[in-house]
Amino acid sequence: MAQHFKNNPNYSDTNNVLNVQLFDDAYNSIKNWQEYTPTPLHQLPALAAELGLGEIYYKDEAHRFGLKSFKALGGAYAVVHVLKEHLSVLLSDNTITDQDILSGKYSEHLKDFTVATATDGNHGRSVAWGAKQCGINCMIYMHKGVSKSRAIAVELLGAKVEWVDGNYDDSLLKTKRDAIENEWHIISDTSYDGYTYVPKYVMAGYTVMTREMENQLPDSKIPSHIIIQGGVGGLAGAICAHASKIWGDKRPRFIVVEPETADCLLQSAIKGRPKMVHIDTETMMGGLSCGEVSTIGWDILKDNADDFTSISDENVATSMCLLALGMGDDPKIEAGESGVAGLALLLELKDNPALKADLGLDENSQVLLFGTEGATDQEIYNKIISGG
Ligand SMILES: Cc1ncc(COP(=O)(O)O)c(C=O)c1O
Repeated sequence: MAQHFKNNPNYSDTNNVLNVQLFDDAYNSIKNWQEYTPTPLHQLPALAAELGLGEIYYKDEAHRFGLKSFKALGGAYAVVHVLKEHLSVLLSDNTITDQDILSGKYSEHLKDFTVATATDGNHGRSVAWGAKQCGINCMIYMHKGVSKSRAIAVELLGAKVEWVDGNYDDSLLKTKRDAIENEWHIISDTSYDGYTYVPKYVMAGYTVMTREMENQLPDSKIPSHIIIQGGVGGLAGAICAHASKIWGDKRPRFIVVEPETADCLLQSAIKGRPKMVHIDTETMMGGLSCGEVSTIGWDILKDNADDFTSISDENVATSMCLLALGMGDDPKIEAGESGVAGLALLLELKDNPALKADLGLDENSQVLLFGTEGATDQEIYNKIISGG
């Protein structure tokens, strides 16, 4: 049964965390990367009709930079940014561009530079890819719940993988310790006390999705609802801040959805302050399995998200299959477990009309979902789609 907390947002300005300059800088950098191409925004009218909604828009991140998730935007962008800052101090030169760094122009100066991060898979792949493009070293920390094939994907990009006992939070702890000892640079997608600078750039990278989407929505339509999945809340915070900037008072109702076994944002909203949750059972939605909020993501969401929800894994596989098969004339879409959280919530609402009404969802609703990943683990994806 889905849980719901109706927040009481004051819609305060998010400029102290993310501002227009950061959004613009991220877009202006990433749109010039060699393999950049906007990801599609699908319309799913048949599925919307089946669920008693007006329209469903689905931002499909399955093929972002060939890395299969939206995370490709954040980690890699933060790597480039950190290197630019490092080089501008080292060489007393503030004319160095992102393109210079990505083209390997400074690889000799950077050959001893190492970035490190903890990950459930997707963020690590992005950091490893960014490190490879820039010719630097990369250490990736994974807990033992992460599948081997996700580790292999990272190793194929030239990064070194360290396995850590415990969960995501344990791998983050070990990353912090080793980074201090070895003078590595942490490129984390989550922020904590004293560490906010890099995650801001990670989050700014994510907003390239909203920038693209703004141009892709037919007739400049404004969705009535955005449903977005939460892990540490970096993604949700970034999109919430950017959507507020784009649409102001006409902003869509902003709903965060998490796995019930890792609902740190929902529990924090209920408490009114960051609350850590202990993860006893791993959800299928591995990318969302986080017990502690990102402080800057939380800062945005506490004042700007309208609703916090959590769901079980029950509708995850069905959501993936529905998208893979395509309902009626809807397009067929490859979507991984963490990518379908928004749709899984909508499926759950079919049997929960009271919650559907509480969320203001009806046949007039124009719902925007973020399909944040494709088949990031091909073996697991095939098993689920074939009914395994
Ligand atoms: C596919 C996918 N979707 C959503 C998220 C959630 O992002 P965040 O942890 O910033 O909330 C993640 C996080 O790794 C992810 O991998």
